[in-house]
Amino acid sequence: MVAIPPIVRDVEAILTFTVNGTPVAAATTPVQRLSRVLRDELGLTGTKVGCDAGDCGACTVLLDGEPVCACLVPAAQAEGREVTTVEGLARRPPLFDRLQRAFLCHGAAQCGACTPGMLVSATALLEKRENPSQSEVMDAIGGVLCRCTGYQKIVAAVLNASVEDREEASPGAGRAVGARLIRLDGQRKVDGTEIFGADETPAGALTVRAIRSPYHRARFRLGDFETFLATHPGIHTVFSAKDVPGVDCYGVIGAFADQPVFAHLEARFRGEAVAMVVGEREVVEAFDAASFPVAWEELPPLMTIDQALAPGAPLVHAQRKNNVLTGGRVVRGDVDKALGEADVVVEDEYETGFVEHAYIEPEAGFARRVGEGIEIQACTQSPYMDRADIAKILGIAPEAVRIIPTAVGGGFGSKLDLSVQPFLALAAWHLNRPVRMVYSRFESMMSTTKRHPARMHLRAGATRDGRLQALDFAADFNTGAYSSWGPTVAARVPVHASGPYKVPHYRALTRAVHTHLVPAGAFRGFGVPQTAIAQEQVYDELADRLGMDRLEFRVLNALDGVTPTVTGQVLGAGVGIRACFEALRPKWAAARAQVAAFNQSTTGPTRRGVGLAGMWYGCGNTSLPNPSTVRVGLKADGRIALHQGAVDIGQGSNTIVAQICADAMGAPIERFDLVSGDTAITPDCGKTSASRQTFVTGKAAAMAGWKLRQAILQLADAGEGAGVGLKHGLVTVEDGETQRTLVLSGLPLDPYGYVVTAEATFDPPTSPLDENGQGVPYAVFGFGAHMAEIEVDTELGTVRVLKITAAHDVGRAINPTLIEGQIEGGAAQGLGHALLEEFFPGKGENLHDYLIPSAGDLPPVESILIEDPSPIGPFGAKGIGEQAVIPTAPAILNAIHDAVGVRIHRVPATPDRVRAALLEAGRQGGHGA
Ligand code: FES
Ligand code: FES
Repeated sequence: MVAIPPIVRDVEAILTFTVNGTPVAAATTPVQRLSRVLRDELGLTGTKVGCDAGDCGACTVLLDGEPVCACLVPAAQAEGREVTTVEGLARRPPLFDRLQRAFLCHGAAQCGACTPGMLVSATALLEKRENPSQSEVMDAIGGVLCRCTGYQKIVAAVLNASVEDREEASPGAGRAVGARLIRLDGQRKVDGTEIFGADETPAGALTVRAIRSPYHRARFRLGDFETFLATHPGIHTVFSAKDVPGVDCYGVIGAFADQPVFAHLEARFRGEAVAMVVGEREVVEAFDAASFPVAWEELPPLMTIDQALAPGAPLVHAQRKNNVLTGGRVVRGDVDKALGEADVVVEDEYETGFVEHAYIEPEAGFARRVGEGIEIQACTQSPYMDRADIAKILGIAPEAVRIIPTAVGGGFGSKLDLSVQPFLALAAWHLNRPVRMVYSRFESMMSTTKRHPARMHLRAGATRDGRLQALDFAADFNTGAYSSWGPTVAARVPVHASGPYKVPHYRALTRAVHTHLVPAGAFRGFGVPQTAIAQEQVYDELADRLGMDRLEFRVLNALDGVTPTVTGQVLGAGVGIRACFEALRPKWAAARAQVAAFNQSTTGPTRRGVGLAGMWYGCGNTSLPNPSTVRVGLKADGRIALHQGAVDIGQGSNTIVAQICADAMGAPIERFDLVSGDTAITPDCGKTSASRQTFVTGKAAAMAGWKLRQAILQLADAGEGAGVGLKHGLVTVEDGETQRTLVLSGLPLDPYGYVVTAEATFDPPTSPLDENGQGVPYAVFGFGAHMAEIEVDTELGTVRVLKITAAHDVGRAINPTLIEGQIEGGAAQGLGHALLEEFFPGKGENLHDYLIPSAGDLPPVESILIEDPSPIGPFGAKGIGEQAVIPTAPAILNAIHDAVGVRIHRVPATPDRVRAALLEAGRQGGHGA
């Protein structure tokens, strides 16, 4: 390492302007982005940065009352003007008070990363028009992207902002479950004080930047770092693979771990890190990566599944034959015989591409060394898994690593994998100085995991009376350069490819195949959304060939509690798929009649259609342990500390888990204080994925709450039926005629510092699958069915979704508002998957070219909540996070076929693909459709 004197930044101007009513003077360069000045010079981190390019709107502020993207405004333009950020909206009561409250009551903030931009944009509108129309609201927020909500609740909140009296009474002890409670962490999200990964910087922190491969595949040789450092003042040091003190290999599934922090000799995908520089922020951010001493030799990459499987193809990993990472298999009955005997057989093939998660918050965090330990504060979905991998990389004990999750500005699966964490850990460890890393949007999109592209081949057969007899399913998934969650996708898909139906003869074989592309990982559904796109279209074809109504075909074949699933599991109670379809039946009939009337009446190029799809999804890991442990403690002041490590990525687990715990304990929810996530102070609640937090962590919270209640009753020498009341410093226990009061300050504290502590662990009861995939992969399944009403312009090939109706069996709706939020947001992502989104590595690594649905793209989403309780879930609850996205895309694709009679075999169904399919079928334009 070469010692370099620190850089002294040139200050070219002192700019004066007013921020939130206060005159400020900022020492900066005139061309500096206003967003940067607000956040870094003035500490107003409520203004978020999602893209730094004017694409996402997260940085929206008011400049003299007009909304602008602060990332596009040079600081000099603010000179002498009035800037209002989300923190300053509170100076505009009562308007803002009401708007904020409306956001909370409507559940309009999920992760909260877009919320400041939404609130600022809405304020600008409401200051001009007190009661705007829906289209005016859509226009006003149209420049702000939200990846979580589907916009519906945001629009409703703005439309209802003028409602004055929203104070809600507490539901009372034992009544939190089922109540539409405002999320417990909501206030921070609407007042701009929520801390995300990039929002804190320790004093004296250096900045870390990775040096990444510009090629999909390249051999490389690192050059002379001493000369590089000597000629780049402000860059303190460079690290590469030789600086990894522990094992330079990590991965979310231990047995398949294969990813190094820095590539060794050959980069396997474009965006893979080969080294990192650490130094003064301005220098590190500004230096030209082309000046870094590395010599590249580009090699021919494997870009497709076919190239990777071709005989003689180079191996991405020497130990993985034919570039197959792993496979999955579920076989039941005699599928070939059953297909041979079926009255009707449909065979087809479908393909999907990479999909980008496109959360609004790029990955970010900081780290510091604390003695022989390391602390990392960053956005993550899986703190304990991060802890294990960082310990391995540094060669220290897991207990020496502390992970402090920040708020997560959307994750959807990608923030289960490490991103900034290993770079931060290494730099802080070696330098013994705090370090910070914030991915740019470009870096985030080029290097983090995506949804797996899939190629699926299906044959399905049924009897003349409409009973499904067999499904033969084979699929390859492009898992990219490293394993990430490829094994999970390969294992989960064969269990789910039947859909939520009775299929007596079944064969589902999958492979995860390596290529030289960005790793594909977890994205809401672990491969099941891709699978549903294929299976639900094939089932529609079967129904059509049989001359059956497509909904009645599904009702007839819907799984029940007594027929074995394709893995031989008999689900027993809590199988609500038939109820979901039946809830759609009247709407389906009405929609079909409307579509027929429209199509008969029009002579233009627009045709309408309606489509259906069903889904099921196992909650939690597939046949693997995934326990959660929750601890609750009665504090001396009479409040209850709820230690739960489930990371709330916007889906609402902070609130849901507390609702469950409160009712199990029989205490009002407002007596609870959340202690979330931090590995030093919360037990392990596993990762936030696979729709497991309501079910698994919720169940552990119910058990812990119940145990705490028992412990308090025991302390008061009271019986099971006694009532427990909590007051400041007191617990009152009423047992029949007897009332006892415990003065908490007089009682000793346990090692946790509580008067009484209770802890409980829940691990869903599953069993390993045998060589044919037979067994109990999941203890609980969620079920759902979506109906999409759409119209197709047969000349342009454009598809407009008019309405989504979504019925979901959630077991028990712990918080209906939050569940609706998941459904609406899932439908939005499903719509994107069906019609808009495909990521091409190396192209369009930004939110300008990669399009996600904006407010104007989304139709109304009607949620129908079915409550068929799970015998195992807490209060009967099941998961909803992944479930919500799965049926939307196939319902839309089936609706396209209903409208114009063509199948789109590769999604997204972009206008060019729809037009091509129409042309091929001779159905383009007007009556030809
Ligand atoms: S950060 Fe400014 S528009 Fe995205
Ligand atoms: S709540 Fe809008 S991006 Fe998460």
